Amino acid sequence: MEKKSILFVDDEQKILSGLKRSLHKNREVWHMDFASSGKAALETMSNREFDVVVSDIRMPEMDGIRLLEEVKKHYPKAVRIVLSGYAEIEKENKAVLVAHQYLSKPLNTEELDNTITRACNVQDRMNNNELKEVVSQMGTLPSLPQVYLEMTEALDREASINEIAYIVKKDMAMSTKVLQIVNSAFFGFIRQISEIREAVVYLGVDTIKALTLSVHAFEECKSSRVIKGFSPDDLMNHCLKVGNISKKLAIKQGLNRKEQDMAQTSGILHDLGRLILFSKKPDIFEKSHAAALQKQTLESDIENEMMGMTHADLGAYLLDLWNLPYEIVEAVIRHHDSSADSLDGPGIARIVYMANGYVHMKDDDSVKTRELYCIDHHFCKETAFLEEE
Ligand SMILES: [Fe+2]
Ligand SMILES: [Fe+2]
Repeated sequence: MEKKSILFVDDEQKILSGLKRSLHKNREVWHMDFASSGKAALETMSNREFDVVVSDIRMPEMDGIRLLEEVKKHYPKAVRIVLSGYAEIEKENKAVLVAHQYLSKPLNTEELDNTITRACNVQDRMNNNELKEVVSQMGTLPSLPQVYLEMTEALDREASINEIAYIVKKDMAMSTKVLQIVNSAFFGFIRQISEIREAVVYLGVDTIKALTLSVHAFEECKSSRVIKGFSPDDLMNHCLKVGNISKKLAIKQGLNRKEQDMAQTSGILHDLGRLILFSKKPDIFEKSHAAALQKQTLESDIENEMMGMTHADLGAYLLDLWNLPYEIVEAVIRHHDSSADSLDGPGIARIVYMANGYVHMKDDDSVKTRELYCIDHHFCKETAFLEEE
């Protein structure tokens, strides 16, 4: 595998030397560069390509936020990680906009090492040749809907709820479908929600955005093909359930509102790759679906055997193409990856992995399902609160 290039930026020489020392063991797999200011970092970046940039927030002259804004603009493919101390807490809101991940100081090297390694793994999976090959044979992939772009643009200039609702309402077909979903049992509202504005208030803009993406993708992937034991409607329902459970797990684990919404969005979109395979590669989809049932294994394992990539890779690839946040792309790519369960702490990838397993267990609580989704005592303990609701 190719060596990854990582750039560390901090104005404190002591911290840079500490990083150099503690990450020395990674020199076989990482090429590491160290810069002591934002300016120096940009200079280094103009000379070579970097996969990951890790920056301190508080630095004289150009601070970490400004640096990462530049990196985002000129090197959008690099994963941006911010290191912040408690004093910078107010700045963190801004950091959410420019960083993919943040780690708090004092730095735990193991955590930093894990975070960078995970980011590199996601990038590698996106660069998988088999995946590119499959995508290249597919012709057009679902496009990013206009309404999503308009909403994102409106949010950037801090538009009001009314304005957001107006944008969604302009697309009559989509808003009707969104309301239909909102009023289905999944969201558990006691009374009917009859207006998009209300839906935006109750669900939040991020969930509405995820719903428009999902509705649009399902519209674009309509197909007359009939595959035994599969229906796009069931898939949509499954995704909504996983979205809801993801949000509940995120709340229970004390994640902030932004992260809760990201967890729900990831859940709603996690199986988008299955939808695309169904509409663009129906023969492969049919075969892997049948083989998974017959062998009682995961479809993703069969897909891997058949194509060297899975529906999780494909879905994440599309979301990355659409420029969705890294956390969502990572959660989607890892939703069948049992090592996501062993990640430390309440990460979004771990939450979506668990939510998907939970929904499968609810649909079919057999020994096999429990085995496939690694549902053990520990898992049940963590999800027990969902039973009480
Ligand atoms: Fe899946
Ligand atoms: Fe799923």
